[in-house]
Amino acid sequence: MARCFVTRELPGPALERLRAAHEVDLWEDSSPPPHEALLAGVAGAEGLLAMLTDSVDDELLAAPRLLAVSNYAVGTDNVDLAAATRRGIPIGNTPDVLTDATADLAVALMLAVARRIPEGERLVREGGWRTWTPTFMLGRDLHGARVGIVGPGRIGRAVARRLQGFGCAVDEAGRGDRGALHRVLAESDFVSLHLPLNAQTRGLIGEDELRRMRPTAFLINTARGPIVDQRALARALADGWIAGAALDVTDPEPLPAGDPLLEAPNLVVVPHVGSATHAAREAMAQRAVDNLLAGLAGEPMPSCVNPEVYGSG
Ligand code: GLV
Ligand code: GLV
Repeated sequence: MARCFVTRELPGPALERLRAAHEVDLWEDSSPPPHEALLAGVAGAEGLLAMLTDSVDDELLAAPRLLAVSNYAVGTDNVDLAAATRRGIPIGNTPDVLTDATADLAVALMLAVARRIPEGERLVREGGWRTWTPTFMLGRDLHGARVGIVGPGRIGRAVARRLQGFGCAVDEAGRGDRGALHRVLAESDFVSLHLPLNAQTRGLIGEDELRRMRPTAFLINTARGPIVDQRALARALADGWIAGAALDVTDPEPLPAGDPLLEAPNLVVVPHVGSATHAAREAMAQRAVDNLLAGLAGEPMPSCVNPEVYGSG
């Protein structure tokens, strides 16, 4: 029996499976454990089940008994992967099980910003809607639009599949392909980001990239906030370089009150809910527990982002 530190309550029955096999120390607050609490939690633990809001840095990975870390997310930008690999600690993630939920949200955001749904909703509630008029609250079509998928991985391809049903012309820009990125930025009515956050993608969409977009185009981000230069985005919206943006992710999360981005026109922002369906979050919990159980048993994790640890023997 090992000791596991789990940094948040998880939906569904998965944690019970972990409790049946190991001793589970659960951080019961709904807010993230401060770094000192994380350090204390892993101090005597063999396993860590962490959230994307927990910084799994070298100091944490140095915990003397730690054997395996399971991240409750597909993204692992909160983990120092180089340090984990150096220490021989496998890092698990939760791909596949959240692909469709996140792709659904990306399409929802395209429709929300282009058809001005949150804006219209606010107007109705505030009593600002007077009467039906032919020129009132006109938006733009998703059906038949040109959509650029930046990062055609699992989620990006799932978005592309959905958009076939909308009759969209989908174009793709793969990781690291500047030429394709510039083409997609210049030609698309919607640009949707589906990249992991790393040294190559941090700040990828800045002033130059936003200025390449059409003034009628929309930027959608369901990936990670720091991929977009938010100061540049605030200016792009204020000065009309683009028509709007819809973000599930920001930097930081949440945005502090008074952040200039929140003042920008034509911005839809939601609280990092790409995978937030009952089914997806329960499946992520199962995958995260499967990863941790395998890691603690010295077996390959079903989803491991640094499988090279298994070869180093
Ligand atoms: C959510 O953002 C995830 O990476 O799973
Ligand atoms: C992540 O799951 C991706 O490859 O899009």
